[in-house]
Amino acid sequence: MSRELFQHAMNIAKKAIQYDENGKYSLAVNNYVEAADILMRFIKTSSNPEMKQICFSKAEQYLRRARELREATEGPVYSEGGKRKVSKDSSRLREALAETIIMEKPEVTMDDVANLESAKQALREAVVLPIERPDLFTGARKPWRGVLLFGPPGCGKTLLAKAIANECDATFFSADAASLVSKWLGESEKLIKELFKLAKEEQPSIVFIDEVDSIATKRGSRDEIGGERRIKTQLLIEMEGIKGKAQERIIVLGATNRPWELDPAFRRRFEKRVYVTLPDEAARKKVFEIHTKEIPMDDDVNFDELAKITEGFTGSDIALLCREAIMIPIRELDKSGLLSEEAEPRPVRRSDFIDSLAKMKPVVSPDELRKFEEWNEQFGAE
Ligand SMILES: Nc1ncnc2c1ncn2[C@@H]1O[C@H](COP(=O)(O)OP(=O)(O)OP(=O)(O)O)[C@@H](O)[C@H]1O
Ligand SMILES: [Mg+2]
Repeated sequence: MSRELFQHAMNIAKKAIQYDENGKYSLAVNNYVEAADILMRFIKTSSNPEMKQICFSKAEQYLRRARELREATEGPVYSEGGKRKVSKDSSRLREALAETIIMEKPEVTMDDVANLESAKQALREAVVLPIERPDLFTGARKPWRGVLLFGPPGCGKTLLAKAIANECDATFFSADAASLVSKWLGESEKLIKELFKLAKEEQPSIVFIDEVDSIATKRGSRDEIGGERRIKTQLLIEMEGIKGKAQERIIVLGATNRPWELDPAFRRRFEKRVYVTLPDEAARKKVFEIHTKEIPMDDDVNFDELAKITEGFTGSDIALLCREAIMIPIRELDKSGLLSEEAEPRPVRRSDFIDSLAKMKPVVSPDELRKFEEWNEQFGAE
């Protein structure tokens, strides 16, 4: 399967080269980009480090050529006066940034996040207050520059980061580390540089890097490829750069569900580390309420009971369970052929939840949970 993928990429690259030689540049560009894209997919499935390295440098080479061609065909960019050349590189990168990084405020608010009170408080102190009241954070009371959310998958890290952006009046840059790496390979480090430049211009800013482990893994690990190392170095440089400067109001917020894979250099730069753990019983009840909002419930549905029997479930497990359960009345309506007749679905019953529950298994095992607890003991809080 993956061998075929590689072969496929090579065929497309061959076509690209032919087009290139025959002067059909825009076709060549498309094929170069497609070949690079397939190679990146191949890299993800391959477990052979040498092969990965080869594919990566090929992909880099194709993208470089695609870029050269694009620039050559579009011609240089001039400012209105026609004299001074605007920084073409910079504006091109800004375009790339706009595609990779979301700058709009997310719609999530703190009310959408059940409990997690200590994490919320920690984030208030580390992110909201320094942005709202920089005057309080002078002298020895230094604001945190790097804040890390860590914990098992599906417990609300991404959700919390989005909610926090809504809490304060800061520009929110949301970058998914994996797409930074895969989409802009040869250029990712420039992109990171540009991202921080923009964050500086738009400050106060929160730079949120989700799944930060895909950039910030331990250096020198076996299958690290050249480009990834450069991205990592660049991110370290940028984080170090904002650290020393009191006047810069930029906070880097990272999230990971594999904190132990973080490079110690990054661990140090995320000075404040916030554990986002499995929801307790009260939190689970709240998650049930949030994810059944505005749906009619039968009297026999009791969220206290459901919260009790879902010990070990993550927020996302419960969200999924709710989605299953509240679909059942719709499915029944559909099966009985009444969906089109504006018939109202019946309220959701206890048995809908119980039936859906029977089909589910919590995703986080006790063993995994222990790993998080241990990491928290060793590196959590400050
Ligand atoms: N505390 C919570 N309150 C409400 N909903 C929650 C909570 N935790 C998780 N959820 C639900 O689970 C979904 C997944 O949560 P989220 O994406 O924040 O997890 P995560 O911790 O970032 O996981 P991952 O490590 O896999 O990225 C959310 O979109 C939400 O529907
Ligand atoms: Mg997440």
